[in-house]
Amino acid sequence: MLHRLVIFIRRYVNKLIHVPKPKLICGSGKITATVTELKARNAVNVMIVSDQVLTELGFTQQLVILLQNHNISVQLFDQVTPDPNIALVEQGCEQYLKHSCDGIVALGGGSVIDCAKAIAASATKRKPVKALAGLFRVRTSLPPFIAIPTTAGTGSEATLVAVITDSEQRKKFTVIDPCLVPHVAILDANLMVGLPAEITANTGMDALTHAIESYIGLHSTSETRAYSLAAMERIFTYLPLVYTQGNDSEARQEMAIASYEAGLAFTRTSVGYVHAIAHQLGAIYHIPHGLANAVVLPHILDFSFEQAYPAYAEIAYQLKLVAQNTDKQQAAIAFVERVKALSQEINIPTRFSQLKVEDIEEIAQRAINEAYCDYPVPKVMSVLQCQQIVKKMLTTAN
Ligand SMILES: [Fe+2]
Repeated sequence: MLHRLVIFIRRYVNKLIHVPKPKLICGSGKITATVTELKARNAVNVMIVSDQVLTELGFTQQLVILLQNHNISVQLFDQVTPDPNIALVEQGCEQYLKHSCDGIVALGGGSVIDCAKAIAASATKRKPVKALAGLFRVRTSLPPFIAIPTTAGTGSEATLVAVITDSEQRKKFTVIDPCLVPHVAILDANLMVGLPAEITANTGMDALTHAIESYIGLHSTSETRAYSLAAMERIFTYLPLVYTQGNDSEARQEMAIASYEAGLAFTRTSVGYVHAIAHQLGAIYHIPHGLANAVVLPHILDFSFEQAYPAYAEIAYQLKLVAQNTDKQQAAIAFVERVKALSQEINIPTRFSQLKVEDIEEIAQRAINEAYCDYPVPKVMSVLQCQQIVKKMLTTAN
């Protein structure tokens, strides 16, 4: 089967590609380290990429003042919207070049960090972002790039990918290149304590999905499995806590680290069918990425059980969800149940009201196309099987 052959070859090619890790700075109030990190890289005229919500909360202004007080000029581009599209990247790129910026600070969630990566790549290459779609089209060092996530989920601060929306075609595309890994990631829980519970839940489940899809995928290594396990342990412990007690900054910090660890894992291994389906739901209905993943995840865990249960069992043993002498199948079931229990605990719905029966064929076809030869899934899915799974998420489904 071609899919399996390509995945097999990629597994070995993957090992030859060096994916850098950002310099990691962690702790409440550590946003101030932005100054020293920019100065260390001789960046004195930077663009801050952010969104309107963070501006309204006063976070972007605080960062602007911090940098200006240390003689760093700032261009503020705070127009990023969820699912950033090509036009937005072009707008940011134009502003970056017009003001001859020499560095970029992304302050926000995954959409902001992805948009900033695309702006930096497009400005450096002087090419439209669409021309950089796919693998290794950047191949040029980006200007000093600092990522400061304000949600704990996408792990974009640790990854080599930017997801951009092509609004005309109602499709998302990716720019993938080791050059896109930010030089510095600052995880500052102070920026996350005010996040609404629903966003906390959705983004946390995105991180869990990264950790799981990476772990059970055929490209996982002992290094990535260790990152995934560490992330899952933190998420099972701290996600319910931050959901109910959003101002617990220690728990927020743990979730930020979990998201980063899951990012380190999946950027080295890729993801699976949960993301393949979620991306279509995001592109067509603008369903938030984390929420789409959270709803799809249990279905894919069930679908993949036959092939992936030894990996599920390993997770259950490692995270001490079961006694070490538990039967493998039982341990695997315990893991799946643990994921479903977490979803329930943080009120993740099981269906999408936006989903239309007439779109299911297209969603399934696109999801299978996206995964084909690219996602090292433990069990291959047909378009028909995908349609059946997506149907279960209709509000009218039994
Ligand atoms: Fe994701």
